[in-house]
Amino acid sequence: MEKVLELISKEVGDAFEAAGYDRELGRATLSNRPDLCEYQCNGAMAGAKKYGKAPFMIADEVAEKLGSNEMFEKVESVKPGFLNITVSGDFARSYIVRMLHERRMGVTLPGHEPTYILDYGGANVAKPLHVGHLRPAIIGEAVKRILKYTGHKVIGDIHMGDWGLQMGLIITELKCRHPELPYFDPEFTGAYPKESPFTIEDLAEIYPAASAKSKAPEDASEEQKAAADAYKKEALEATKRMQDGDKAYRAIWHHIMNVSLPDLKKNYDSLDVHFDLWKGESDVHDVIPGMVDYMKQHGYAHESQGALVVDVAREDDAKEIPPCMILKSDGAALYATTDLATIQERMKQYHPDAIYYFTDKRQSLHFEQVFRAAKKTKLALPETDLKFIGNGTINGPDGKPFKTRDGGVMHLETLVQEVGDKMYDKIKQSNPDMPEDEARSTAKKVALSALKYGDLSNQAAKDYIFDIDRFTSFEGDTGPYILYTMVRIKSILKKYEAEGGDAKGAKLGNPDSPAMKSLMLLITRFSDAIESAAADLAPNKVCAYIYDLGNAFNSFYHGTRILAEEDASKKESYIALLSITLKIFETCIDMLGFTCPEKM
Ligand code: ARG
Repeated sequence: MEKVLELISKEVGDAFEAAGYDRELGRATLSNRPDLCEYQCNGAMAGAKKYGKAPFMIADEVAEKLGSNEMFEKVESVKPGFLNITVSGDFARSYIVRMLHERRMGVTLPGHEPTYILDYGGANVAKPLHVGHLRPAIIGEAVKRILKYTGHKVIGDIHMGDWGLQMGLIITELKCRHPELPYFDPEFTGAYPKESPFTIEDLAEIYPAASAKSKAPEDASEEQKAAADAYKKEALEATKRMQDGDKAYRAIWHHIMNVSLPDLKKNYDSLDVHFDLWKGESDVHDVIPGMVDYMKQHGYAHESQGALVVDVAREDDAKEIPPCMILKSDGAALYATTDLATIQERMKQYHPDAIYYFTDKRQSLHFEQVFRAAKKTKLALPETDLKFIGNGTINGPDGKPFKTRDGGVMHLETLVQEVGDKMYDKIKQSNPDMPEDEARSTAKKVALSALKYGDLSNQAAKDYIFDIDRFTSFEGDTGPYILYTMVRIKSILKKYEAEGGDAKGAKLGNPDSPAMKSLMLLITRFSDAIESAAADLAPNKVCAYIYDLGNAFNSFYHGTRILAEEDASKKESYIALLSITLKIFETCIDMLGFTCPEKM
């Protein structure tokens, strides 16, 4: 569907042409003086030189030609030569009516459905999810939904860290505690137990204990340091044994996975974050040797100080990009190796047009190396769009990475819980009679909006301060403010229906106040906002749009008697506008990954 600006530019272009000027001069933009007009065109200024005429003379002629055009309420030529444009209320209304008949409310969809793989989440199995995992999950999920809405086939893959040292540490610690288990008996030839020797609660304790044992503090004695080193060495060996396919250690690995995955799923579910694929680093273990051979055979990889590397530096690099390391000198695969093998497998299985990665921005060099290596080795096609969307850190009020009150690492579960509790108190305060169940489920929804909007309203790459009071406020640029506005609309619509009105069938009329018109014009900008958010992979643009929409709605609401309106057709029109506004909000918050309660 053509955008409002395109439609205006066409008419203004026609007028320039009719007056004897280049029609390209008719390009309109949003007004930067909304107090004076809605749209503007500065073409006469640009044309002045070309035609050797004073700009206002050109503007006068064009305005004259547009005088009788029904699209406009007013086109004024103002000195030194601007065109100030106000569209007609009828144009705004009919545009909205048409938009509602379009697929995806007028968003331009690609001709074919491109396939995108989104790699986000990045949880490390057996390690508790911490606050650092929040942003990739929230941003990745939102971008996935935005891309889906704008006509892409999107596959979300969690890409778990499930093959690293943490596994060896757990095995080592388990062996210390329970040497009697069959996994540690070299003579054992039977089938290993189906039941896991540990629960998720055990794991939550075992991993940190093992990790602590593998690292001696600065001030430790020589003896302690040696013990930590020996422990770490054992864990590294256990990791390697597990990776190399040792039956007993693989059996423990399966237990760790079986116990951890439901817990991970539960955590992501609580964030309303869902993956199509639950793959991880372990999934490419078996294809790494083949990939390495291929890289060697084609001369892409070469040895350097015992390690195997792919050179990825370019002459025009502003800063040095070190080679991408494929194998360490001891033959072990690295983070880049699993990422490259994963690209190879994704290309084979899904033929994606694009693969986007969402994780901490400190990993940007890693991804630059991996992307270059993938293109150089032809694992990815020259046109495969590989992108890294690095996120900034969530900081505490002190500007340093967010911690628990006693300075520890903030677990994701704790954080979600804290925001939920705070919201629950607020909901209970404003609705003392709300039944317990409803208060809990409402609090959960509003808390999620606080958390997600608080995050997504920032540009992904920027750090931000986690300010729980601000995020959970019902006022200002927050998720709860958006939901509060939506709940307000829902409640009016419900009342209207309770009085026997048909909200769904209500017909939108022309705006009868400036506030109503502003709201309607914002609605016409829906597709621009969403397309621009999709093009820039920027959920913050959806947030900015609904914040404006919320403000426009609330100005309209405060200045208009809606249910008390006596003129039935006016009232019907207001109700139609409310329904449409709600529909836009609902579509947008769904893209951001949260939902709205009935009351709050
Ligand atoms: N597990 C990694 C981490 O916690 C993030 C994984 C990101 N995705 C990737 N394909 N490397 O740091």
